[in-house]
Amino acid sequence: MYGNGQGSAAPVRKVTVPALRSRKGAKPIAMVTAYDVTMARLLDEGGVDAMLVGDSLGMVVQGHATTLPVTVDEICYHGRAVARGARRAHVVGDMPFMSFQVSPAQAVENAGKMMKEGAFESVKLEGGEEFAEHVRRIVAAGIPVMGHVGLMPQSVHAMGGFRVQGKGVDDARRVLDDARAIEDAGAFALVLEAIPPDLAAEITATVSIPTIGIGAGAGCDGQVLVCYDLLGMFRDFAPRFAKRFAEVGNTIVEATQQYVAEVGERSFPADEHTFKPNGFGVPVADIAGGTQ
Ligand code: KIV
Repeated sequence: MYGNGQGSAAPVRKVTVPALRSRKGAKPIAMVTAYDVTMARLLDEGGVDAMLVGDSLGMVVQGHATTLPVTVDEICYHGRAVARGARRAHVVGDMPFMSFQVSPAQAVENAGKMMKEGAFESVKLEGGEEFAEHVRRIVAAGIPVMGHVGLMPQSVHAMGGFRVQGKGVDDARRVLDDARAIEDAGAFALVLEAIPPDLAAEITATVSIPTIGIGAGAGCDGQVLVCYDLLGMFRDFAPRFAKRFAEVGNTIVEATQQYVAEVGERSFPADEHTFKPNGFGVPVADIAGGTQ
């Protein structure tokens, strides 16, 4: 339990905002969500470029039906844990519902709190043209911002569910305008969620910042997945776009069944999991109880 599998502690160069920015049209960015230090260490060892402490934690960690209940303090708590495990990967913090929507001033204040208390290296926020000023003001405060357009889970009720966006011509134009507005406001990268692949490719060709897709096809400058989807651990539902690169959920269930069985038949712990007897030779019957 105490081995961390991190190998040597040799210094590793951090992936920075300019480094991510320079990946536009070059080597695709691999981003994944993370919520705790153990997962962050493993994902870092696996070579991801960026980890997002997403408000998806409301669903996959806390068990809510949406991301709406997540708070800034909760994002910061998970951010500090992930930061301790991310030796190389850049760490982005998701601004939760109602932490920035009220005003640009509120956005700057909470983005600042996340950088100070969550140990983040940048923040991400959902929103298009109507939040361009919010992005501009956060960037002006020296905080790098990743945008997020297309399907914006914080607007789940306004959208009538988690629905693909940008399907008709007008809606596609709206998503494209949103992307341009967020780029103009100074974002360094842009998440494109659940939009048709041709629209994602068009946005990618239009904006000068890297696009990071989720359910947006292969034409983006990078991809992001929720770690529990990627690993096959979240079993409530499976979004079409979420390829399961492993079935860790099955492995966990099987290992647990094996543990339960071995405890039941007293084959665990075996000698190799047990400290040396103390040599006093106290009869078991006495330990179990009887003598005073
Ligand atoms: O909260 C999240 O995990 C996200 C990603 C899915 C992009 O916003």
